[in-house]
Parts: sequence; C-alpha cells; structure tokens
Amino acid sequence: MNKLKSLILAVTAILTGSAAWAYDGSCLWLSGADNDNQAVITVPKSKSPTVAIAAEELNKSWHGEPLRLEIKRDKHLGNEGFRVYRDKKGLVLSANNDLGLLYGSYALLRDNAAGKAIALREETPAYNVRVLNHWDNLDGTIERGYSGHSIWNWDELPDVVSPRYREYARANASVGINGVVLNNVNASSKILSAEYLAKVAKIADVFRPYGIKVYLSANFAAPMQLGGLKTADPLEPEVAAWWKAKADEIYKLIPDFGGFLVKANSEGQPGPCDFDRTHAEGANMMARALKPHGGIVMWRAFVYSPADADRAKQAYIEFQPLDGKFDDNVIVQIKNGPIDFQPREPYSPLFGAMPQTDQMVEFQVTQEYLGHSNHIAYLAPMWTEFFDYVSPSSLKAIAGVANVGNDTNWTGHPMAQANWYAFGRLAWNPQLSSEEIIDEWMPMTLNYPENTPKEVTDGLKKMMLDSREAVVDYMMPLGLHHLFAFGHHYGPEPWCDIKGGRPDWMPPYYHRADSAGLGFNRSSSGSNAVAQYPAQLAKKLDDINTCPEEFILWFHHVPWDFKMKSGATLWQELCNRYQSGVESVETMQRQWTAAKPYIDPELWNDVNERLMTQARDANWWREGCLLYFQQFSGMPIPDNVTPPVHTLDQLKGIKLGISNYECPTPELLNSKR
Ligand code: GCU
Repeated sequence: MNKLKSLILAVTAILTGSAAWAYDGSCLWLSGADNDNQAVITVPKSKSPTVAIAAEELNKSWHGEPLRLEIKRDKHLGNEGFRVYRDKKGLVLSANNDLGLLYGSYALLRDNAAGKAIALREETPAYNVRVLNHWDNLDGTIERGYSGHSIWNWDELPDVVSPRYREYARANASVGINGVVLNNVNASSKILSAEYLAKVAKIADVFRPYGIKVYLSANFAAPMQLGGLKTADPLEPEVAAWWKAKADEIYKLIPDFGGFLVKANSEGQPGPCDFDRTHAEGANMMARALKPHGGIVMWRAFVYSPADADRAKQAYIEFQPLDGKFDDNVIVQIKNGPIDFQPREPYSPLFGAMPQTDQMVEFQVTQEYLGHSNHIAYLAPMWTEFFDYVSPSSLKAIAGVANVGNDTNWTGHPMAQANWYAFGRLAWNPQLSSEEIIDEWMPMTLNYPENTPKEVTDGLKKMMLDSREAVVDYMMPLGLHHLFAFGHHYGPEPWCDIKGGRPDWMPPYYHRADSAGLGFNRSSSGSNAVAQYPAQLAKKLDDINTCPEEFILWFHHVPWDFKMKSGATLWQELCNRYQSGVESVETMQRQWTAAKPYIDPELWNDVNERLMTQARDANWWREGCLLYFQQFSGMPIPDNVTPPVHTLDQLKGIKLGISNYECPTPELLNSKR
C-alpha cells in the first residue's frame, strides 16, 4: 500500500470509525501491498512453487519498472544468491535457481518499500545455515517467550495446518532466514516419536517453497526415553543404530530435514559425559546418523560444569581441547558471550580458539535479559559489536533464539519485530550496520507518511539505535552482569541469595561488591580469564588502565575511588551511568511523543504504554542497584542523580512470582512496587 493511500485510509477509518484499516502488527515489515501501479513482471516458465511465490510478491507490491526474472547458470551465485542487472530489454533479476529469485524479489521489494533507487548488484548470503532456534515446548509454553504461546499447534497437527505457518515462513524468507529449529533445547524426546514427526513433516511441507529447512532439538537420552534402551552411551553400537534408524525415519518423511540441535550436559540435560564420553564423541555419533542424508548437528557449547571457580572460563576449558575432534557435519554453537546473553558481555573466547572446528554464533533475539516484551532494546548494535571482535568470516553459520509467539503482532512489543528483522538481515549479510538495518525496517513497519518531518524520523531512529545502550546503563553498566531477579530474570536483585542454590546463579558471585570495590577480578591477579583471549587483547583487558571501560567490572575488582576516564570516581561514574540510563528512556519517550501525529494510533498507544513501563523499570533498576551498592561504597549519591523514592528494603521485598514463560504486565508491576 503506498504511503499516501495508507494515510487516507487511516484518516477515513478514524473519521468514520470504520475498522477498514486497523493496525494490528501482524503484517510485520511486509505491509507493502495493493499494487495500484502494476508493473510488468516476466517470470521463467516453471511450475516451481518458489517462483510462483516470487511472482505473487512482485505482482502484489513491485512499484518499479518492468522486471524480468530468469534462471541462468552462474556458479558464482551459489544456491541462494541473485544478481540485479540491466540488459537491452530492461531490468533483470537472475539467479542460479528458484530460491535465488525469491531472495532477489524480496531484496528488490525492500528497496522499493524503503524508497531507495534500484541498486544493480550481486548478493550471496554469508552463511549457508541461518537458523532461528525456537525454545518452544510441546505443551505450547515458550521458555523465555514473551509474546504469547507457541505458534506450533501440536494438538491440531497433522490434520489442521495453521495459515500462520505460511505467514511465518514468508516473513523469514523475506529477510533471508533459511532454517528453523522448532522445539526447545531443553528437549522432550517426544518430538522424535512417529506421532510428532508426522506433525513436523506438515510444517516442513509449508516451509519448503520458502527455502526453509526444519531442524529439531534432540534429547541425547532419547534412545532410552523413547527407544527403551538401557543406555545412551554414544560408543554403544545399539545406541548409534537407534539414531541411524531414527534419522532414516525422519528423512523418509522430510527429505530436506536440516538436522539436530543438541544441548548436552548442561543445566541438567543428559549428554555423553554421563557415560564418560566427550562432547565430540556424542556429537559425532549423531552426526554420522545424519551424514548420508546431508544433515548436520549443531552442538551447543553452553556448558558450565565447575571445572574452574570462574564460570566465564568453563565452556572454554571443556571445549577447546576438543578442537579438531568433531566430524565435518558438526558445528559447535556458541553463545556470543562467555556467560549467558547479558545486556553486554565481551565475546566468548572460544571463538577463534578452535581453528580445526566449525563454529557458529548463537544470539538471543528474545529479550530474556533485556526487559522482556516491555522494553525497547534494538539488538543490532549488540550483534554488530560482537562482529567487531569476531570476524564474520571465521564462522560457519549463525543462530538466533526466536522472539516469536502467537500474539497477533508475533513479538509482543511491536518494536521487537526489529530484532527478528535485524537478525535475518545480519545472518544474510553481517557487514550491514545497525543504522542501515533500521533505515530499512522503520519506514516499512511504522508506515508513517512520506511527509513526516525529518527530525521526527531521525528521532525515532535515534530512539532505536540508542535503546540497547540505555538498557545497559540502567541495568548493568561498566561490565556488571547477572544482577537479575532469580529465575524469571525480570528486574533487579543484586542482593539475591537463595539458600542451597548454585553460587554461580547468584548475583553476588558476579558483582563481588565489598568495601574495597566492585567487579569480578578476571585479570592475571584473579581468575585469569583474560588469558583465554588472544595475547594482544588479553594484555589490554588485563590492565585496569587499558581495559575498555564498558568491560572494566567484568574483568577487574575496581576500587570505589578509582579514577575513571571522565575524571569521576568509580562510584560517581556508576551513579552517573544509572542516571543516564533513566534519562535516555525519558528521551525515548519524548522522541515517541513527537511521532504521535504520524503513527497509527493503535501502534502509538501500545508503544507509549510500554515506554511508561520501561521508564518505571529503569528507575527501579537505578534505585535498587545504587542503594544496594551504596552499602559497600559508603559514599553519598551525587547531587546530579535523582534521589531514590524507595528504601532498599522496600525494593528487596518485590517478588513478581512469574514463571520463565511470561512477561510481567504493567498491572502486576504496579501492584508490587
Ligand atoms: C539460559 C536460560 C535458560 C536456557 C539456557 C540455554 O540459562 O535462562 O532458560 O535453557 O540459557 O541456553 O540453554
């Protein structure tokens, strides 16, 4: 729909009270439709459903000059690449195969929707595997899901196939995502039963024309839980035979099945170490079952058995010695940071430390640690920051933990759609900047009219670009980490101490506040985690005077009166950062208010209310952390920082009582504080 038309319809709807054009967020960034300026699209004679989709999308929305789609052999473009060029007859989109044409079509439509001139170009994706990980349970709940229930209706499948599966596939294909792990890494073996595989096959059928492969999280003990074997020891022939038969069964139903994702010997999940075997022995046994069919194993390195007193070192200690021991269809999947998806972490030192092993990064798109669906946190800056340290070309593949649920708008917070979008775009091209991505996403999704003042759109863009840093500042500035409430991870609990709980699940383990200072000493005089990084970087991190300040409390126990680069003491700087985080949210509120006349009222109100919650939460974090740390620093809160309006005891008394599957409502939050 062109901008003018959408505005007229919106105004008409408001004036007449008609619901003819009501925003509900379901269209994501794909709202451009209704081609009133039909261009001529010529497609290759092909019965391929993929080409039919490309043609349908272009016919619906392409506003440019006549366009010819052609299949032309060009090894250079691989399976998924495309080229846009001009010949004597006009504009051409060419590819090696159907899928390239589909990706090229979405790319052209994106240019169109963002109002860009057509760029003649050639594009191929950086990775062959660009996969979303759903942490969806078979009962419909989603671990760390904040946008309703799972979109997979297991009870209805295989008889009823929801139309949403197709919409979901379309959205993924439009940004280049080509794989989906359907179920939680804390996997139920049931997903591998014949009953469930028949359901999975139906989803795979819907995804296929969009170039999306289905993968499953596999429970390592499935041969015991499902197959009735006495062991899951990977070196037992009967175990290997069980997985081989299972793989054969799956590929009969789903010939293009992608493979398995495995969480083993982590947080209570079974794995090869239960049988005194290594991660490599476990992964290879499963990989060999998939190999004849072309499948892969994505084996997670999210492990933290206490082989060392510092959790940040444990995955490296366990995995690095296994370098070179994994089969060639195994990819070791590593979270971006060494702990667990914190608002800011240094990169995991495992990256680059296993040169003989294929590695992939796992980002978290869902906002487990960044305010769930209540806060705006545009995550592309976090992911591009990771790529500043870890060269994209050193990776084999990329995964993102999905933020999708069955809410009408898919992601709970309307602005969280940007993270799904950004993950896909970076998976295709990790060289893109956060700014380029938001420049594409904003006009397509927020649908403001073309004559929206530039200062308004600039404000919105800034709101998005600065949002993650705001979260870092009001939650955990200067390298602080894991100060979250126990279990659900919403809100501050730097004081949290659960009797009998693992020490490394408790915030004091991470912040180490005492009368001398704050932060975890991971320098050579402490846990020496710095030594896991390449020598030059290790040296820089090791020295309190050269360690980047955004990581200073990650790597050092810093005296309260330590002079920071700004000239302030650590305590003052800490206070300033918390204050500045709160003020950033106030700025975001003003930026959003300025956009009110240009944004659909439904959308505007929704985001506005969430910003109010975010502003209250930011203050909650600021007060909770500063009052708590003040007990150790013994220093006054400086005058430039708004004085707290709660006591520490009041804040300590807040218990939300929510599960790991929900986002607290404003009502709940307000009733508790
Ligand atoms: C985090 C998260 C868990 C999840 C785990 C994982 O610890 O809180 O819910 O299962 O990561 O990535 O496996």
